[in-house]
Order: sequence, then C-alpha cells, then structure tokens
Amino acid sequence: MTTPPIAPSLMATLPGHYYTDPEIFRQEQEHIFESMWFCAVRSADLDKPGAFRTVQVGRENVLITRSRTGEPRAFLNVCRHRGARLCTEESGQVRRNLQCPYHAWTYDLDGKLIAAPNLVQMPDVDRTQYGLVKVALREWLGYAWVCLAEEPPSFEETVIGAAVERLGDTASIERYHTQDLALGKRISYDVKANWKLIVENFMECYHCATIHPELTDVLPEFADGYAAQYYVGHGAEFGDGVKGFTVDGSEGFGRLPQVADDQDRRYYAITVKPTVFINLVPDHVILHRMFPLAEDRTVVECDWLYAPEVVAAGADVSKSVELFHRVNAQDFQACERTQPAMGSRAYRRGGVLVPTEHHIGIFHEWLTSKLGGAHA
Ligand code: FES
Ligand SMILES: [Fe+2]
Repeated sequence: MTTPPIAPSLMATLPGHYYTDPEIFRQEQEHIFESMWFCAVRSADLDKPGAFRTVQVGRENVLITRSRTGEPRAFLNVCRHRGARLCTEESGQVRRNLQCPYHAWTYDLDGKLIAAPNLVQMPDVDRTQYGLVKVALREWLGYAWVCLAEEPPSFEETVIGAAVERLGDTASIERYHTQDLALGKRISYDVKANWKLIVENFMECYHCATIHPELTDVLPEFADGYAAQYYVGHGAEFGDGVKGFTVDGSEGFGRLPQVADDQDRRYYAITVKPTVFINLVPDHVILHRMFPLAEDRTVVECDWLYAPEVVAAGADVSKSVELFHRVNAQDFQACERTQPAMGSRAYRRGGVLVPTEHHIGIFHEWLTSKLGGAHA
C-alpha cells in the first residue's frame, strides 16, 4: 500500500510502533542509554563517603557512591563472585565497605576486592582483577553523569554542547551556578508513557495554550505555540504584571547573583539528549532526569534548586514549585493519554508535526541514526 503524500506544511512523526515495540526499546537501551552520558544522581545526595544510590541505566544497574576521599565513583552493581546484585536498595549508606549479601565478598569504596571468606587460602587470586567494574563518571551542574560505553563520547560536545547549542555559549548556563544551588523540592513522577513522547512534548509549545493555563499566564508568548527552545539564545519573557516564576505570578526570590540583566525575567529551556531537561529562571533552576524503564514506562525525577540561603532560611518555595509541578502533571497526563494510541491501527504510520513542531523532526532523525537507520 502506498502512503498518500503529506501536505507541505506537515512533517511525519515516527510510526506508532517506535513507542510500543520492546525490541526498539532494547535497541534504545543499547545504542542510546548505555552509549551516551546519562545523568544519574545529584552529587549532593551522596553527602558522605559510603553514601550510595543505585540507578537503572539501560539494561544495567549502576551503583554510585563516594570514596573515603570524597570522590564520586560509579560501578556496575554486580558482585564479581557469582553475580549477585551488591546493593538492592535505591539509596543507602555503608559504613566502610561494600559487602555482597550472598557470600560476603567485600569491596572498598574504590571498588577493590579487599576480603572474601577463605581468600587467604587462594593466594593465586589477584584481588585487583576481581574488583567491581568501573563506570565512567563526570560531574556537571552538581549532578553525576555516567557512561557505560567502553569509549565514552566527548562530554563537552554531547552534554555541555546541548546548552551551547541552545543558549549560544557556555557562560549563559554557568551564570546560574547550578552546582552550588540547594534542593528545595524533589518530586518523582511515574509516567506510563514512552520516554520519546516526554521528550517530544518538552520540545514543543503547540500544546501550551491548551493545557498550561498557569504557564501561559506567566509566559504569554507561549500562547503562540513557539517553544522557548525554538530560537537560539531566546528566553521567553515574563508577562508585564508578572513578578516571579510562580503559580500566580507573585514575587519569587532574589535573582541568582551572576544571572545577567538580559537573562532577568526570562525562562530558558534546554534539552540534553537523551534524558535531561533544564529550565532556567532568574531565581531557580528546575532539572528533570528521566529514567526510561520500559517502552511504556518512564520515571521522571524533578528537582527544584534555589540559592542555598533561600533553602537554609526555610523559605516557602511552594508557589514556584507549584507552577512547574502543574506543568509536569499536565504534560505527563497528555503523554499518558497518547501512549495507548501508539499501538492503534490509526497511528500505524504515525501522525504529523505542524510547522511550530518541525524541529522535533531533528530529534527523530537523531534517534533513527542512533538505531542505525529506519525501522519503519
Ligand atoms: S555472589 Fe557476591 S559474594 Fe558470592
Ligand atoms: Fe508542556
């Protein structure tokens, strides 16, 4: 059957099965989540040596901890003896070492095998050879990013480069000093939708006028359907009577000290493929990390970050949290409404993108190139 021609102002989306097929999800795990830099944990959540978090990165479980000397370290969460998962909790604190709960092989916080029952009777065993498998780790914006690739891609190009591409330079994001901010609020959303629907939704603002009344009140230009990330360097301007990036437009907090005059009263949104969204406003930063767990399930962890003195003073951050919490809830509900239709025969060849969404086509091209060509 031939596909009818598409109207010139429309572009095709990906076909529906890209959002439902477990085999495509498996390929994404291998070629995207396990191959690129993946934003895993907020560094400050590992507040002292032995504090750990475990996160799912593609098909692997990764253990991230802090060494005796305070360095963040990442390992595959797999005991080198017979493969038991070393840490089963999502977070915790060990006193000195990591001990496998199965036969008690024990690793120090640098991953070195330091003890095992009867190990002294096996003098031929080279302990360095049976240490935990290390995973590459970089810190940026106060988060630990890990990469499972044997040869990780350039962090500067693939991660920091996304901010440069969007804002025009690195200084623009550095002025928010995200790594020095404090966590005011964290909300975790368990979204029953494919991760790509969440990315696509974040990339466009065609839906803003329909589903985001509070956001378009604060950022009136969003009602036109043009996302802030449509133009390089452009930040959406707060409306005339709006005092701050809050649910009712009321006053926020003081401008972060180095945010420039031309960044004041503006909102910038950055997508760092594959799983991170960053929103910059004068008095706080909102950072989303996605954890794609299945073709139809994605956990999104959203952090609201403020100047340390704002959090230390116990200031009421609820008005600014509420604005983007509503946006998140509205967006994720839309994604969940879309997910079941991805398997419908009505969407077998996909849908269409209107001109204000055409840049999503670049994301689709990127995705299919990662997967090694078309899978239609
Ligand atoms: S599997 Fe870990 S000690 Fe045996
Ligand atoms: Fe939205």
